[in-house]
Amino acid sequence: MIFVLLTLVFILLATYILSTVSKPKNFPPGPSWYPFIGCSAIVQNVSQKYGSQWKGLSQLAKEHSTQVLGLKLGSELVVVVYGEKNLRQVFTGLEFEGRPNSFFIRLRCLGKRLGITFTDGAIWKEHRHFTVKHLRNVGFGKTAMEKEIQIELLNILQYIKNNTKSLSPKKVLAAAVLNVLWKYVAGERIEEDRLMFLLDLLNARSKAFSMAGGWLNLYPWSRFIFPKLSGYSLIVKMNEQISEIIDEAIKKHKSKAVEGNDFMYYFLDEINEHKSTFTEEQLKTVCLDLLIAGSQTTSNVLEFAFLTVLRNKLIQQKVFDEINEVLGDDMPCWSDTSRLIYTYAFLLEVQRYYTIVPLAGPRRALDVTSIDGYSIPKNTTILMAVGDLHFDPELWDFPHEFKPERFIDEAGALKNSEHMYPFGLGRRRCPGDSLAKSFIFIIFVGVMQKYKVECSNGIIPSGEPVIGLISGPKDYTADFIPRN
Ligand code: HEM
Repeated sequence: MIFVLLTLVFILLATYILSTVSKPKNFPPGPSWYPFIGCSAIVQNVSQKYGSQWKGLSQLAKEHSTQVLGLKLGSELVVVVYGEKNLRQVFTGLEFEGRPNSFFIRLRCLGKRLGITFTDGAIWKEHRHFTVKHLRNVGFGKTAMEKEIQIELLNILQYIKNNTKSLSPKKVLAAAVLNVLWKYVAGERIEEDRLMFLLDLLNARSKAFSMAGGWLNLYPWSRFIFPKLSGYSLIVKMNEQISEIIDEAIKKHKSKAVEGNDFMYYFLDEINEHKSTFTEEQLKTVCLDLLIAGSQTTSNVLEFAFLTVLRNKLIQQKVFDEINEVLGDDMPCWSDTSRLIYTYAFLLEVQRYYTIVPLAGPRRALDVTSIDGYSIPKNTTILMAVGDLHFDPELWDFPHEFKPERFIDEAGALKNSEHMYPFGLGRRRCPGDSLAKSFIFIIFVGVMQKYKVECSNGIIPSGEPVIGLISGPKDYTADFIPRN
C-alpha cells in the first residue's frame, strides 16, 4: 500500500516538475527552464555580468538570435520584445494593455492593486481618463504650466548663485520638478524640509525596489523568512512614510485649508458623490503614481544633459553660442524649440543615448496572442526593449557615438525623432510627457544661458549610467561659472 502511495506521489511530483520546465507550444526562444526557478538564475547571472537586467537580457536575445525573447522567472512567463515593429505592436495593441498582478506590484502600490500605473481594465481606463482630464482642467500641459516651470527656473538659478562650487544637481532638479507636479496635484509647493524628506524617501524606495526586485518578485514568501534581507521591511516602512505625506495633503483639502482648485479637490468631490471606484486609497495611490513616475525620470534626463556638457566642452560651447545668439537674455519658453535646433537636437540625443526607461512596461497579455509569429499565452508579462531600439544600427548611424547632429537634416531642420520612444506610445503612453519635455528644455536652456558647467576639483565624472528600474548618472558634482 505504502509503495503504491509513494509511487503515486513520485509520479505526481515528476509530472508537476516536468510541466514547470516544458515550454508552451511555439513559445519564443530563450534559455532552458529549471524546476521551480525557470531561468531566473541565468537571467540574474547575465544581468550581473553585463551590469544591468536590460543589458543582460539584450545579450540573451543576441545569443538566441531572436527579436522576441521567451523567459520564465520563478513561475511567471516573461517575454522581452526587440525591434521597432514588435515594440509598436505591444505599445499600441489593445491585447497588451494589461499590467501584471503580482505581489511585488501590489507592494509597490501601497499594498493594493490601485492607482493608474499598475491597474488595467475598467478602473485603469476610468482613472487615467479622470486624472488626465482634471490635471488639464487645472492647467497641466497648458501655457500656464510654462509659467510655473519658469518660476522653478528662477529658484534653481538662485540656488546655483548661492552654491556655484561642487554643486550636486540631483536634489535641486528633482525638487523643482516635484514642486511643479505637486502644484497641479495638491495646489501648493511642498515645504522645503518636507520636500527633501520626500525626495530622500523616493530615492531610497526606488533603490530598495531595484535591490528587492530579484528576491521579492520571484519568491514573495521570502518576506516571511527574511523580512529585512529581502528588503520587505524597509519598503513597508517607506510605504507608510510616503502615505503619511499624501494623507496630510488630503486632510488639508478636506478642511479646505488649500486655496484655489486642484486635482485633489476634483477627486474628493467624486468621493463625496459616492462614485464607486473613487476612494481615499485610490486617490493616495494615484498621487503616488504621479510622484514616482514624474520626479526622478525627468530630473535624470537633466542630470545626464548637464553631465554631457560638462564632459564635452565643444558641445557645451555650441549649445551656449546658439542660446546666446537666439535668445540673448530672454527667458526661454517651449516655443523656442523651433529656434534652438542644435540645443533641442542635443536634448533628444541625451534621451536616446541615455534612455531613462530602457525596458518599458511591464505589460500583461490580456488574451492568447502572437508576436512575430510566436505564440504568447494569456497573462504573459511583456517588456519592451526601448533602450536597444535607441541603439539599433538599422535606425541610427554609429549608435554608440553621441551625435546631436543625427537629429538635424541638411536644411537645418529637426529630423528622425519618430524612431524615439522615450515616453512610449499608444493608450498607455506617458501622460506626463508635456511636463517632462517643457521642464527639461526650459531648465536646461535657462541654466546654460547663465552658467558655464565645469568639473569640480579637476575630476571628470563618469559618463557610465547606473541602470536599475530607470537609468541615472552616478552621483556627481559640478562647478557653475557665471557667464557675463
Ligand atoms: C523624462 C521623463 C519621463 C519618462 C522618460 C517617462 C516614461 C514613461 C513611459 C515609457 C511610460 C509608458 C509605460 C508603458 O507603456 O507601459 C510612462 C508611463 C507613465 N508616466 Fe511617464 N515618463 C516621464 C515623466 C513623467 C511625468 C512627469 C509624469 C507625471 C505626470 C509621468 C507619469 C506617468 C504615468 C502615471 C504613467 C503610467 C501610464 C499608464 O499606465 O497608463 N511620467 N512614462
